[in-house]
Amino acid sequence: MQILIILVTAIHLLAGVYWAGSTFVLAGLGGRGAETLFRSQMIAAALAVAAGLVLWGVLVGGAVGPAETSLSVGAACAVIAAGFQGAWRKQPARSQRIAAVLLAVTVVSMAIARYLG
Ligand code: HEM
Repeated sequence: MQILIILVTAIHLLAGVYWAGSTFVLAGLGGRGAETLFRSQMIAAALAVAAGLVLWGVLVGGAVGPAETSLSVGAACAVIAAGFQGAWRKQPARSQRIAAVLLAVTVVSMAIARYLG
């Protein structure tokens, strides 16, 4: 079980770092290059979300509390960010900036969750 958690966490973090990091760079470039990275960003998003759901099933289960609330806020922001990137693909300056803010919230709320209780 431990090895499964390690592997899924590695996929979750690597995909999340790529997705959020590339989004921050594209936001800084005013959306230039977004079309080139669109496919890889969506693959990373799908991997991060899928691995996140597995981690949720294994580590969180039905628990309720501040840590779970923080994870839920982060997960919701991530899904909304992917929605903006997909729906406003033709307006990359706007969609990447909004997604960057949402993914910044995701990274922080995910990383601090374990210290909240
Ligand atoms: C629907 C989307 C997501 C779900 C359901 C989800 C779920 C989770 C879960 C269950 C954990 C483990 C918490 C624990 O150790 O108890 C976690 C950790 C984490 N996630 Fe996500 N996640 C999602 C998206 C993302 C994205 C997009 C990123 C990055 C951009 C991200 C970054 C992190 C980080 C940094 C951790 C902390 C790892 C640690 O402290 O060990 N997550 N996530």
